[in-house]
Formats: sequence, C-alpha cells, structure tokens
Amino acid sequence: MSSFCIAQIPAKPRAPKMRPRYESVTSRNLPPTFISVDSLVNAPTIEVGRDVLQASEKWLASEYAPQLAMTIAQIIADRAGQPISNIVCLGIGNRRARDIDQFVLLAQIATQLSVAQPSILDNIVAQDPNMSPEMKGLFQIHGCRVVEDPEAFGFVGPDTFLFAPFLPIFAVLRGLRNRGCTDFGMYIGNDLKRMVGGPEKNSHRFGVHESDQASFEQIALSIQDETVCKRSMVPCDTPVGLRGTFRGLRDLEIWWRPVELG
Ligand SMILES: C[S@@+](CC[C@H](N)C(=O)[O-])C[C@H]1O[C@@H](n2cnc3c(N)ncnc32)[C@H](O)[C@@H]1O
Repeated sequence: MSSFCIAQIPAKPRAPKMRPRYESVTSRNLPPTFISVDSLVNAPTIEVGRDVLQASEKWLASEYAPQLAMTIAQIIADRAGQPISNIVCLGIGNRRARDIDQFVLLAQIATQLSVAQPSILDNIVAQDPNMSPEMKGLFQIHGCRVVEDPEAFGFVGPDTFLFAPFLPIFAVLRGLRNRGCTDFGMYIGNDLKRMVGGPEKNSHRFGVHESDQASFEQIALSIQDETVCKRSMVPCDTPVGLRGTFRGLRDLEIWWRPVELG
C-alpha cells in the first residue's frame, strides 16, 4: 500500500517495478489518493483503477473527506506513542461502487495514519474469499498483501486497524472469537450496537449462530465500552429513503482505543 502516497514510498528491494502514481488533488491538505491510471499495468486493473480515480475525485471534493481527516487526526493524537501499525481489510472483493468507495476510504485513512507510522503502508493485508482478480490486482499494485481466508485474522493485534465494511457478522466472529476490544486498536465496520439484540442477528444474511451469541455480545460490548473506546461515524450523506452518494460508506462506525484509556 506504499503507493497510496508517493511522498512516503519507502525503498523496498521487492517493490514492483511499476506502481500507481499519486498526486495531491486537494488544496485542503488532505491525504493524496489520486491514481494515475496510465501507470497501471494490466487491463482489468486499469479499469478498476479508473473507478478508484473517479470515486477519489468525488470523495475528495465532498465535505466528508475533511471531516474524516479530522477524526483520523484525533485517532492519531489519541494513539500518540502507540500508533496504529497495521491494517487488516476484510470483505472488499468486487468492482462495485460500494467496494470502490470503501477502497477510497481505506486509501485516505492509510495515507493519513502513515504520517504517524510510515511502516503501516507496508503492513496492510486484504482478504475476501470471493475477491475478483481485478480487485486482487488493485490491492497488490498498492503494495497490499492479499491473503486467503482465514489468514488475515492472524494479523489482528492491539495496534491493528480492522476494516470490515459490511462483513457478515458471523465471519467477523469466526475470526475474532474470544477476543475483545483490547485486541485491536481501531475498527470500522457495521453498526454493532444496532445488531446487539437487533433484527439483523436473526436474519439469514447477518445471522449469528447460537453458539457464537455469547462471543458476539462480548466483542460488541467490549468495542462499545466507552471507558476504553471512542466512537464516531464515517461521515457520509444519509438521505432518508435514498441510497446516498457514497453507498458503501453509509452507516459505518469508527471505534478506536485511545492509549490513555486502554
Ligand atoms: C455483504 S458483502 C460486503 C461487500 C462490500 N464490502 C459491501 O459493503 O457491499 C460481504 C463480503 O465479505 C466477504 N467475506 C465473507 N467472509 C469473509 C471472510 N472470512 N473474510 C473476508 N471477507 C469475507 C464476502 O465474500 C463478500 O465479498
């Protein structure tokens, strides 16, 4: 992922010969997530790179990008001395608008977190058992390591940013069974509070198996423990009854564990 910010690409012997080129597209000091598609190397990745370019432009021009930047700056400040050091990204696997929006979000956050911890850009793993080849190429060309399920969960530690946008809750549970909030530093994903006792837990799509119920409640409740975690929402338009501009970002929660609270 070192390619998310050209100014921070570390010299790595195994670096690919061709990397996407990023340029700052904002006068508001936002992290650059601007991709030069002509430097991408294969056709499917060029196509998806084009999608990322368009989505980045739209996102960075929106009022939400600077709002997110402020939240991430707060997280960096709250984690001073113990910065977020790696990212585990789950469930971004297809070339759909939702997934592309989430990739753009990941790019902004990774770039900004790298100000506090430059090596984070070399410590990003992505996993989706149904990841398409073009998405795999997109991650890899950004320097991310794409792993097979369930390997990514093994990278989750106390300073990890776990990015799991709309991952089925049973999949998160399987990976994080018997772990609480103290096992990772930052989380973006489904609104867990709504799920605890909410209808989603009984639906087919988000169903939590009976035997996982206790572990689910433990994880959800520990993430929501405001004595150890702070919470915000991913800034996004949420028009009532409409799908909104950034479809993949609506209703995503951000939780993080400030060092002094942990
Ligand atoms: C409901 S879709 C969400 C996709 C996209 N992030 C969105 O918001 O529409 C869930 C995705 O999670 C993936 N998935 C399921 N189990 C997973 C696991 N154990 N690790 C990573 N991804 C997983 C699926 O393949 C699918 O792409």
